[in-house]
Amino acid sequence: MRGSMRFVVPLVLGLGLLALAGDAVLTRTMRRWFEHDLSLRSRLAVGAARQTLAARWRGDPTALTSALDDITRDERIMGAAACDATGALRAATEAFPAGVTCAELMAARPGDDAEAEGGWALDAGPAGGRVRVGVVPLRAGGEALGAVALVHDVRFMARREETTRGGLVGAFFVLAACAAAVTLLAARAARAAWIADLRRSLKGEVHGEFAPLVGDVRALAETLSQERSHEALAGAWSADRLREALRQNLFGERVVILANREPYIHERGDDGALRVLHPASGLVTALEPVMRACSGVWVAHGSGSADRETVDAHDRLGVPPGAPAYQLRRVWLSPDEEQGYYYGFSNEGLWPLCHVAHARPEFRAEDWEHYVAVNRRFADAVCDEVDADDPIILVQDYHFALAPRMIRERLPRATIITFWHIPWPNAERIGICPWREELLAGLLGSSVVGFHTRQHCNHFIDAVDAYMESRIDREAQAVVQGARRTLVRPYPISIEWPVRRLDAVPAVPVARASVRAELGLAPDALLGVGIDRLDYTKGIEERLAAVDEMLRRHPSYRGRFTFVQLAAPSRTKIPRYRELNDRVEALVAEVNARWATDAWKPLVLLRAHHEPEAVFRYYRAAELCYVSSLHDGMNLVAKEFVAARDDERGVLVLSQFTGAARDLPEALVVNPYDLRQAADALAAALAMVPDEQRERMRAMRRFVAEFNVYRWAGRMLLDAAELRRRERLLGRFGGADRAGAGLRG
Ligand code: G6P
Repeated sequence: MRGSMRFVVPLVLGLGLLALAGDAVLTRTMRRWFEHDLSLRSRLAVGAARQTLAARWRGDPTALTSALDDITRDERIMGAAACDATGALRAATEAFPAGVTCAELMAARPGDDAEAEGGWALDAGPAGGRVRVGVVPLRAGGEALGAVALVHDVRFMARREETTRGGLVGAFFVLAACAAAVTLLAARAARAAWIADLRRSLKGEVHGEFAPLVGDVRALAETLSQERSHEALAGAWSADRLREALRQNLFGERVVILANREPYIHERGDDGALRVLHPASGLVTALEPVMRACSGVWVAHGSGSADRETVDAHDRLGVPPGAPAYQLRRVWLSPDEEQGYYYGFSNEGLWPLCHVAHARPEFRAEDWEHYVAVNRRFADAVCDEVDADDPIILVQDYHFALAPRMIRERLPRATIITFWHIPWPNAERIGICPWREELLAGLLGSSVVGFHTRQHCNHFIDAVDAYMESRIDREAQAVVQGARRTLVRPYPISIEWPVRRLDAVPAVPVARASVRAELGLAPDALLGVGIDRLDYTKGIEERLAAVDEMLRRHPSYRGRFTFVQLAAPSRTKIPRYRELNDRVEALVAEVNARWATDAWKPLVLLRAHHEPEAVFRYYRAAELCYVSSLHDGMNLVAKEFVAARDDERGVLVLSQFTGAARDLPEALVVNPYDLRQAADALAAALAMVPDEQRERMRAMRRFVAEFNVYRWAGRMLLDAAELRRRERLLGRFGGADRAGAGLRG
């Protein structure tokens, strides 16, 4: 209504002005008509009485007056007078106004004789009582006798003007009302058609005149949503806040996570006792606290020797053990499936493909077939676990590149957020994979694909551009296939804050003393720590070589500094991992042989699985932690070390090839391949004064506290919520294969 008034008000004002102008023109025209009419009337009246007037002109004025009286019988002629050619009054009727003189009337005679013959008219008499007088010349036998002046009653003129003006205004008013109504209806109809067209364009159904506008609208929506998400993300994030965000934005909908690695592994030991293991996995470290906060279901491979014993009839169990907060749904794999899908395609193919760590990827067709089949098994398990037809599903990592599309086929309205925990290499390198199109198509089944860094996002988009039929919306960082849109977003992962497990870990002085005692080191020995799965991407050999180089270049640390490497055996069925194990053992022996004394050795290799509490004790005991990954999506060891050091001491030496190096620039950032640089950084860390340690550690702790894993999950889930809101808004629900279209850019 308000919008329509914008048309109607100017229209009515315009018509009003037109009416005023029309009124002025009409008044002038009517006046001319009336004057013409009066002069005609005067001439007719005088013409009819001409002979009588001429005959009595020079005689008795009473007779002339009587002739003039006859003329004034016309009701519109109020009075008459006879003026001679010199301007003197010869006779006048009684009602002829006294203030009107013959001199005045004759003086108004037009100079042109021909014109004067037709008569003239003027407003005469004193100011205030002026009347309209028509003057008609009178001739007899060629002689000009003078003129007869007739005073007209012009009140009728005013009355007529009044009536006409009234009609005119009325007509304009009716016209204005009709025009306004028509304009209103036309504007409404046009607006409705315009909105319908725009809507259809936004939905991607038509690409007409709105095509350029749609881009702008999407960009604006993207900006607004980013601003809104910035606001929504501000402040400290905790488990409670994440839970609350989920409740408010996703109406408490439960989250289903699909990840190969399970957060709790049940093993039966040789002694027959049942043990619960917490696997060494960055993915588990990050996601387990999120699931505790959100509840829902975690679908994973049941890999423990006692896993089957501990599930119910539906292969589920509540975890964490003893205080269940969410469900773990285990999926069983045959040895062949595990070999092909997990060891083969995932870890001999995709893992080396995505990490620039100089290991040649192996792609075997049989592995691929298992990978496809197992992805389908897990996708089906996920679909069994959802409790709505528009669930929120978080697909994790390179084990499940195909699952998003498979889930989408069964649940077209699902919100699927896929997070790739490892690096995504450049398009050329991805091109090595014989099934690159299938992998990309699988991932594009997601509503959102997340990586740790923007660079990985760009690489992914480049690969889609190079190998897929699609349109890339670079500004919105989205891939568009038909009406479907997949957002590509960086979500740098993190750890919980505060770390719950630290409650069970002794304080720094106690941890320092106990670890040194355990390792047989002097109480004042300097200690460095490295904590990893035994994986060739972690740069463990380079790390040990850097310690070797440090002792060579900085002899003062010989006999005083020990580096302890906690290495969790990993993927040991793969030859490369076994070879790495052998090489690391040999290197430790070699370096120790070079520098060790009877009382001291520089390297200690603890090749075993360590539970999180033990790991945190080592973080707290050490002077420095060296993370030397050759390529790493994020690396949460770096962040865990920072979290453990509530004494604000200890130095982090960090590879520049980790995602963490972007988040923690206060670490001593090194190139792990550059042994001299790394060796000097280790020495600098040991020599760093407490104040500098505190300053660096404080900055890093502040960052990790703020950008913790609850915020990471919050960002993804708020994006999912935003996506769902917009999908509802655009009326997309119900449109299969459309989820994500028209969203965020
Ligand atoms: C990396 C991967 C995770 C994986 C972890 C441990 O962090 O991104 O998906 O869980 O390594 O590897 P594993 O093969 O033992 O699960």
